[in-house]
Amino acid sequence: MQLKNCHNIKDFRKMAKSRIPSPLFHYIDGGADDEVTLRRNTQAFDTYDLIPNGLADVAEIDLTTTILGHKISSPLFLAPTGMSRLFHHEGEYASSKAAEKHGTYFGLSTLSSVSIEDVGAHTSGPKMFQIYIHKDRGLTYELIERCKKAKFTALCLTIDTIVAGNRERDLRTGMTMPPKFTLASLANFAMRPRWVMNYLTHPNFELANLVGRTEKGSQENISVIDYINSQFDTKLCWDDAKQAIDAWGGPFAIKGVMSVEDAKRSVDIGASAIMISNHGGRQLDHSPAPFDLLEEIVDAVGGKIEIICDGGIQRGTHVLKALALGANACSMGRAYLYGLAAGGQKGVEAVLEKFEAELKRDMMLMGLNSLDKLDASKVRRRNW
Ligand SMILES: Cc1cc2nc3c(=O)[nH]c(=O)nc-3n(C[C@H](O)[C@H](O)[C@H](O)COP(=O)(O)O)c2cc1C
Repeated sequence: MQLKNCHNIKDFRKMAKSRIPSPLFHYIDGGADDEVTLRRNTQAFDTYDLIPNGLADVAEIDLTTTILGHKISSPLFLAPTGMSRLFHHEGEYASSKAAEKHGTYFGLSTLSSVSIEDVGAHTSGPKMFQIYIHKDRGLTYELIERCKKAKFTALCLTIDTIVAGNRERDLRTGMTMPPKFTLASLANFAMRPRWVMNYLTHPNFELANLVGRTEKGSQENISVIDYINSQFDTKLCWDDAKQAIDAWGGPFAIKGVMSVEDAKRSVDIGASAIMISNHGGRQLDHSPAPFDLLEEIVDAVGGKIEIICDGGIQRGTHVLKALALGANACSMGRAYLYGLAAGGQKGVEAVLEKFEAELKRDMMLMGLNSLDKLDASKVRRRNW
């Protein structure tokens, strides 16, 4: 299978599956518990129809929007995801460059495999750094200072990972970072010789932002679940979020907001944006889909804070529906990671190109030439 044969995200997923060892594929693909939330995140978009209008002069389509203080070329950006070099040897270099080429945000995780400094030097596009607060509290403020020096555009604080979600696929496959080549896992890796060759001939995998602060995840193999449960601070509260916002002093999003109450708190502490997100169904199973929460959160805080809908996005029409219900932008995780695993930077670019083409075509079919014309009159809830 080749990138040119990938016509939608399902195709990229299939190609990713054929390229990388199964523990890594299932780490990307899987969710928590019974994966109910994971499935609903995408299914939720089917509960609304789009209502098109004709004869509206759609010769020119403007997909630009401004989010977190930066104008981006499309209302969809790359959410932060950890450890990209496990999925392709180009790692976060690939995704950040693809995002730069497409004029949209790249999200860099605290648990990335390329450092803040290297991503900062590699790309001049808009960059959001995602903070996980470790028990070592000094680390948070060091990371924030490093982001200032590396000229990051915005920060986000993830609040949904106080403890690791129960990702049973990872328990079954024995997924660790760095990957452990045991007798049991050897067959999985042996079936992907190209991945193994690239992995072994490129610099060692490490949690590049945490070198010198923890050996775990770089020199010592550890499961992601054990890493989170041993390293992250379970005492995290809203005062800590406020302190991080003050320390950064620029555009700041709270990621993982899943209730009107938390959306209002985010406004109160001075955040610039919220990312309505359940971590792609990887944390609390049976939490609602971000799209299902949009209306009530927009009702409560719309206009007071920017709203990003994160989770389940696989089509341009999904983005249009979220914007019609009041989101300012959307972000995606798996969709671009499938592209990365399938073909590195070219794969992520191919995913972004597909979305851009879909968004343009869908806007034309809707009879709309700019995103500000998308409002609640352009969608209708289905009668089930
Ligand atoms: C493999 C993988 C790793 C992720 N790592 C992080 C992370 O380090 N920090 C974070 O805040 N979110 C992380 N996420 C969640 C994404 O930022 C995003 O919220 C989620 O993927 C959106 O759902 P989607 O995959 O359906 O688009 C990760 C998601 C995936 C699939």
